[in-house]
Amino acid sequence: MGHEFSIEKFRKQFPILSKPLRNGNPLVYLDNSATTQKPQSVIDKIVDFYSTYNSNVHRGMYEFSERATDEYEQARHNVAEYLGVNNPNEIIFVRGATEAINLVAYSYGRKFLTAGDEILIGAAEHHANYLPWQVLEQEIGVRRRIIPLNADYVIDIDQYEHLFSKRTKFVAIQHISNVLGTVNDIRTLSAIAHAHGAKILVDGACSLASEKINLGETDCDFFACSGHKGFGPTGSGFLFGKYDLLQDMVPYHVGGNIVNKVCFEKSSFKLPPTKFEAGTPDIAAVLGLGAAIDFLKEIDWKSARAYFSELVQYASGKIRSIPGIKVYGTSKNQSGVFSFNLDDIHAHDVATHLGSRGIAIRAGTHCAQPLMQILGVSGTARISLCLHNTKQEIDKAITALKDCLNIFTGKAITSIGSVQNRPS
Ligand code: ALA
Repeated sequence: MGHEFSIEKFRKQFPILSKPLRNGNPLVYLDNSATTQKPQSVIDKIVDFYSTYNSNVHRGMYEFSERATDEYEQARHNVAEYLGVNNPNEIIFVRGATEAINLVAYSYGRKFLTAGDEILIGAAEHHANYLPWQVLEQEIGVRRRIIPLNADYVIDIDQYEHLFSKRTKFVAIQHISNVLGTVNDIRTLSAIAHAHGAKILVDGACSLASEKINLGETDCDFFACSGHKGFGPTGSGFLFGKYDLLQDMVPYHVGGNIVNKVCFEKSSFKLPPTKFEAGTPDIAAVLGLGAAIDFLKEIDWKSARAYFSELVQYASGKIRSIPGIKVYGTSKNQSGVFSFNLDDIHAHDVATHLGSRGIAIRAGTHCAQPLMQILGVSGTARISLCLHNTKQEIDKAITALKDCLNIFTGKAITSIGSVQNRPS
């Protein structure tokens, strides 16, 4: 465990945060749900690999390749240890949460689910945890049932439990919503799924940078994770799967390195995780992910959480006090993601206005169109915070949002925040 969380020290580890933009403004990065920034240690690891020991893994019998292989496997141990997974062979490296979920839908779903089996899916899921199951429905006839949200746009546990029947075989649910910031209690969701004899996959795309997770305690069967939303490189990620399940699953793509024997007649595959990692992997991304895990390990999560909770509270109060703003979701368990619409200004105009001041936010459907249907909107603007953000940055965003309201609607915001129509 590292030292007490210091925002100054933490920010210094991200070189991009001190680089002025072309217009001279400093970057205010509030788009962390799209991807997090990378600390110097992760950047250095990738540069070091390519500049000093670039080689393939699991194949070479020379120094560079042995080093690359050792570090690749060390990254696997690192991920497992950090997440409370006892067996590193339960960690499969993939390009991100999307690939991890597709892997499970293909390798588990096509083998173990049949027509008429039901899959429960959250209503706020990202397309990555929605489309693979929709494709499975079209291909093999499984049935999807959507877990409703309550008035706060949070999963209603009673309604969730009510959906289970003898036909329910699988649950696919996100840990943290990339749109609403809602944090689901995956331990409870897993326990209920298991009590009904179903397996559960958790989409943990947004999890790494938000909290220290212990997969042993949550007891989910599969956990899909993106490295790039947890300070690691793009193209990095992993799937955790319980070993007995992985053992029985079929490889989802096949090729070099995963076989014991290939004959003209038939072939046999190695054990997990190797049988799921065909071809040359993205070695640099995996080493970068290993460095990101080292970075995460250094965070004192208790004091970091205290800093972040205060920041989220502060942001929530400030954002919600802007006249004419509609913020979607009022979950108490919030990870620092605020989706909103400002009066009737198009979300893209809001994001463009903030972007012109060096404030990076996202606007659109956030790859969650079914949720947009529930919210009754064509899209939202979204501020997504991370541990390196500060109250000063939030203040800048609030000022820019108020100015945006002025410019687009002609409504002037007074210093105490009420709206006055601008004299014509
Ligand atoms: N899924 C990412 C987001 O929420 C890209 O922005």
